[in-house]
Amino acid sequence: MAKYNVLFVLGGPGAGKGTQCDYIVRDYDFVHLSAGDLLREERQRPGSQYGEEIEGHIRSGTIVPVQITCSLLQRAMENSGRKNFLIDGFPRNKDNLEGWNKAMEEVADVKRVLFFDCDEKVCVDRCLNRGKTSGRSDDNEESLKKRIHTYNTSTMPIIEHYRKLNLVSELHAEQTPDEVFGDVKKVLDDLTL
Ligand code: C5P
Ligand code: MG
Repeated sequence: MAKYNVLFVLGGPGAGKGTQCDYIVRDYDFVHLSAGDLLREERQRPGSQYGEEIEGHIRSGTIVPVQITCSLLQRAMENSGRKNFLIDGFPRNKDNLEGWNKAMEEVADVKRVLFFDCDEKVCVDRCLNRGKTSGRSDDNEESLKKRIHTYNTSTMPIIEHYRKLNLVSELHAEQTPDEVFGDVKKVLDDLTL
């Protein structure tokens, strides 16, 4: 069977990962899988044995063990019956990266990493604004400080890892969503899957 094609979508909280993924699935043949969304769903699932553990990590902006996150991703990929995936908000740290490589290297090709680079202050303002209506337990000032810390200390090294492999496309995420998408399209149109 042919391997899955994967684009990882990374960037700080509020950088616009989800927004851009929505635009991409509208115009291209990709399935959008948000690791954060999958974890939030699993947290709500009646009978889940991971609910409390996930909520603890989400509130404190730390990263859920990869066994949980990667199996949610894997299941969603299998169930979709599709081949091309945008995996948003993953891998967020070394544990995520190693777990992915171990479980998925044989079945999935990481074709590119879309890195939405955005000023920290802009990110915080966007999340606080989103917090007014998102109902998310982590779109508040206290959780955001921790999420940004995790991003700087744990996620940036992952982006650097992929940069060394020449897989990173850097997008200027402070622009308007339409402007960012204009840049995203140039990257996707150059991609051969
Ligand atoms: O990407 P998003 O902002 O939705 O992630 C929300 C939270 O979900 C993160 O701060 C983290 O606690 C958790 N998460 C995780 N591992 C991932 C993605 C998200 O633990 N790979
Ligand atoms: Mg998101």
